[in-house]
Amino acid sequence: MVRIVIFASGSGSNAERIIEYFEKKGGVEVVMILTNNPQAGVIERGRRLGVPTLIFDRKTFTQTDKIVEILRYQAVDWVILAGFLWLVPQNIIRAYHNRIINIHPALLPKYGGKGMWGHHVHQAVVDNREKESGITIHMVDEKYDEGKVIFQASCAVDENDTAETVAQKIHLLEYEHFPVIIDKVVNWELDLGLAE
Ligand code: GAR
Repeated sequence: MVRIVIFASGSGSNAERIIEYFEKKGGVEVVMILTNNPQAGVIERGRRLGVPTLIFDRKTFTQTDKIVEILRYQAVDWVILAGFLWLVPQNIIRAYHNRIINIHPALLPKYGGKGMWGHHVHQAVVDNREKESGITIHMVDEKYDEGKVIFQASCAVDENDTAETVAQKIHLLEYEHFPVIIDKVVNWELDLGLAE
């Protein structure tokens, strides 16, 4: 059994899809949700789905090894970021080198970097009259949104779209692809050309 955890800061609709996907398919277990946000919707989803949630603060995350210790204690193999908004600190990146996967709601390298998350991304896409947007699933390194791209999918954006309607299109792409790509990566079914 491959053991994964999900880090999420907000609603957690992707986390829910991932948990449901692996409950049905088996082979991968979501052992824990971790969040920095005591108000996050993902906490209620975790409760409903029977997945324990750990809430941590910035000091614990950035200045201690507690998170790494918990992940090791839980024998976690892979870390999934699903709407997680803090930069992952060096100690976690080192402990889980090439084992942390993020989803970004745009076609990186466009609309990435600090401050580019959720509706900020979609508003910028609409403001710039982009003809398309999409999702990027990528490995996480010590910079925001710069790790190796694993998968991208796009959708059309037209002049009637608002940040909200783009967000809906992006969420549909995320639900369709993220669990499947996680499944492939953690089971080594994709050749990512990554050094161990
Ligand atoms: C998702 O669209 C995800 O791509 C985005 O936050 C949303 C979370 O939705 N992530 C980022 O913007 C990271 N930079 P959810 O909480 O409903 O899964």
